[in-house]
Amino acid sequence: MGTPTSDVLIIGGGVAGLTLALEVADHRSVTLVRPAQDNQGASRWAQGGIAAVLSPDDDLDAHINDTLIAGDGLCDIEAVRFTVTHGPAAIQWLINKGVPFTPEHDPAARYPYHLTREGGHNARRIIHADDATGRAVVDTLLASVARHPNITQRNDLTVVGLLQDAQGACCGAYGSDTNHQWYSLTARHTVLATGGASGLYRHTTTPAPSSGEGMMMAAELGARLMNLEFQQFHPTCLFDPKGPAFLISEAVRGEGGHLLNEAGERFMLALDKRAELAPRDVVARAIDAEIQRSSLGHVWLDIRHLGEQAIRHHFPTILAHCASRGIDITQQAIPVVPAAHYSCGGVATNLHGATNVTNLYAIGETACTGLHGANRMASNSLLECLVFARSCAQALLTQAPEQHGQAASSSGFQPPAQAAALPKAVLSDIRQQMRTTMSQNVSIVRSSTGLSTALTHLKALLNSVEEIQGALTAPEGRRLHQTLQLAILTVIAAQQRHESRGLHYSSDWPHQQSEAVASSLSINDLTGALEKNR
Ligand code: SIN
Repeated sequence: MGTPTSDVLIIGGGVAGLTLALEVADHRSVTLVRPAQDNQGASRWAQGGIAAVLSPDDDLDAHINDTLIAGDGLCDIEAVRFTVTHGPAAIQWLINKGVPFTPEHDPAARYPYHLTREGGHNARRIIHADDATGRAVVDTLLASVARHPNITQRNDLTVVGLLQDAQGACCGAYGSDTNHQWYSLTARHTVLATGGASGLYRHTTTPAPSSGEGMMMAAELGARLMNLEFQQFHPTCLFDPKGPAFLISEAVRGEGGHLLNEAGERFMLALDKRAELAPRDVVARAIDAEIQRSSLGHVWLDIRHLGEQAIRHHFPTILAHCASRGIDITQQAIPVVPAAHYSCGGVATNLHGATNVTNLYAIGETACTGLHGANRMASNSLLECLVFARSCAQALLTQAPEQHGQAASSSGFQPPAQAAALPKAVLSDIRQQMRTTMSQNVSIVRSSTGLSTALTHLKALLNSVEEIQGALTAPEGRRLHQTLQLAILTVIAAQQRHESRGLHYSSDWPHQQSEAVASSLSINDLTGALEKNR
């Protein structure tokens, strides 16, 4: 490899990527590849907030304990302790950067910012910026990134693969620009902050989520993928078949919202002593069961009893969006359904975001640090983005720059001079079929038959992409191929788990094994599964 394009290449422009860029840029040159449109990814759409022990009335052990309970026995205790312990400093870093968190107006309060509650938390520990926390954090960090002379932003590029040198180390990435020209960016360290895989599903809580492409790029280089079967469904997405995806924050239940069934009854009271504030897997499953029983197609989330003033004060974004869709949430209950929200699994990393591939790191939802176990607790995700971006930065800054051999692209892929133009309608149809298959068979309640059906469909869809001429040498074709591969690996992980735990509920394996074991897959498992039927 000649002179690298930059010291650090960060792929992804959400909270994890932006934080890392700012944390290393005083000492390293950074190239930050961001999506062209602001609506992409998940960070910007996070409403509720960031969980951390901030009030003197709360304590670290309580946050650790709540996280472990939500994770249903599968959390990595070291990752949980590490994240929770570094949480308060990460929040202070954001405050210093100027994030406009909502102040506390109660003079008796012992912390200057308002702290809300969400499912699984036994204390008020969610700091937020009204009900649009992600947007406030992203906008604040982006403004700092734009001012930093050592950060080069690229939002004209679609990354489709990683570069590997002769020793197997990662040394950058390649992709194509808006004119379909291929390019490569080399770097001493490459960091994936590419988001999760909720885009594998038909209904999601954000308009344009990732579909696991980054996870698959890492796998192509030999990285391990962990806990892919634990896909989280947020219990309350606005039921709006003709409108855009829109989350109704868990903070709505945290501030006292009630879930009602078709008969107008609070069904959570009979199911869990934590009622509406039980962890997400429990609430989403209960809503799913109510929907199966009723003719409505959704349940209701009712906050009218909080009063108009409190609703306007706490939830201005939700109020305005629902009003724009013809629902006055001060006067009407909100129709809600569960929707794909967060991938608890991803690229396996250590406490500094390092993967098992030399010089390749993963942070944020792309990564699986072990923090979330079988079910992520509300508002621990932005916390993880911040804590691991900061610890990754420390690791990168303490490492002596290494020299590499000749760069080569992963999986033997040699980009042609010009990317081929593909039949868009065909690719879009395949993607829709994949989403339908995943939503029907690999969602809140799974069965062995459903998983086998999904595997058969997904393999057929993968074949049809491979049969399109030039598909694998064009960015859209390659990304769809990666997405289908990740969907197949997700099904394999679900098939291998012979129990129900956290977000993975199987009607054929309703009980939990006594020992909690994380799943771990690699590209070889995919190859093996594909070869079986050939
Ligand atoms: C929410 O506001 O409910 C989403 C926050 C999260 O997923 O943690």
